[in-house]
Amino acid sequence: MPKYRIAVLPGDGIGRDVIEAARIVLDKIKLDAEYVEAEIGWEFWKTEGNPLPDRTIRILKNTDCALFGAITSKPKEEAAKELAPELREKGYVYYSPIVRLRQEFDLYTNLRPCKAYKGNPLNYRDDIHLVIFRENTEGLYAGVEYYPVPEDFRKVINAHRKMKKFEMVVNTDMAISLRIFTKKGCQRILKSAFEYARKHKRKSVALVEKPNVIRETSGMMVKEAREMKNQYPEIELFEANVDAMAMWLIKNPQNYDILVASNMFGDIISDLSAQLIGGLGFAYSGNIGDTYALFEPTHGSAPKYAGMYRVNPIAMILASRLMMEWLGETDKAEKVEKAVSEVIAEGKIKTYDMGGDSTTLEVAKAIAEKIHD
Ligand code: NAI
Ligand code: MG
Repeated sequence: MPKYRIAVLPGDGIGRDVIEAARIVLDKIKLDAEYVEAEIGWEFWKTEGNPLPDRTIRILKNTDCALFGAITSKPKEEAAKELAPELREKGYVYYSPIVRLRQEFDLYTNLRPCKAYKGNPLNYRDDIHLVIFRENTEGLYAGVEYYPVPEDFRKVINAHRKMKKFEMVVNTDMAISLRIFTKKGCQRILKSAFEYARKHKRKSVALVEKPNVIRETSGMMVKEAREMKNQYPEIELFEANVDAMAMWLIKNPQNYDILVASNMFGDIISDLSAQLIGGLGFAYSGNIGDTYALFEPTHGSAPKYAGMYRVNPIAMILASRLMMEWLGETDKAEKVEKAVSEVIAEGKIKTYDMGGDSTTLEVAKAIAEKIHD
């Protein structure tokens, strides 16, 4: 029996192209795994009213981790219009299957490495190597939102002195999204970041929040970070405000090591940082919990390139590398890392985003060829 069972979720559009590319590399590295394909995405929304069918959840529960390509998703109203006629007006509401997966499997760490590979023409600088830890399950994306604001809830918050300026606003003219932090939520993302820093011998962790303004939630994160830092004397802790960090990441990205942030701030600095090292063709992440993890490129299904094998598979291939690292297959992960670096450094085989005209699968094959036993 193979050592690992890995769920493969190609999804929609170029998700399928890049998953095929990643499989070329995984087969070459001979990861001792059985791959189980599972269904997710727009097609299943349209035909079943569920972009993440229960059978897919069952498959995932029977695997060690998952590789995810990309999906198409649309706002609720548009989604409703594309439902199969017999499913319309039956109460199906579109939801994000990725957010659902993060919640269902409690994948609280979003790990986003942002490394500039030498020779990548898209690099902002060649010496960037950031690793971002974004809390993935709570904060402003917890999904606890109100519109209109319920009367009983309104009564409770009206007692807050800062609500005075909203006194005259009626419930139907007000929307509220709650930013929920828990101690456990703060502690576990901070722990992921510090543990990673220790394991990879990185010098510092920068906490990116806004405690001077969002006192209670960001404040809780800061307090927990200072406390946790005591367990990691060899690692420096920086505290930065998210707005200032956006400037510093443009000014001196090479100065930063590990960044850690709550859900929304982490989302934003992750995308900013990804652009510094080549953008969507290079941006990937691991959604990691205590017992399960899902690895994905950041990009979406890019419908205009669907099935054309033109997009860059490097993000997807690096996502598989991260998966191997998470599985403890460090040797194999390093081999893939090295192969990717070599192909980029040579600069011969590259997709359109890097100024070339190679296909998705040519890039994957070039990387696979650099892998030797
Ligand atoms: P997108 O990421 O799919 O593509 C935007 C553009 O970026 C593409 O047209 C292409 O020019 C470029 N691009 C993306 N991936 C690339 C790659 N690997 N190599 C080279 N160039 C690449 O974003 P868009 O167009 O806003 O969304 C398309 C669909 O994907 C939407 O339905 C959206 O909701 C969904 N989406 C899904 C995500 C996911 O599955 N994780 C994430 C983002 C969007
Ligand atoms: Mg994002």
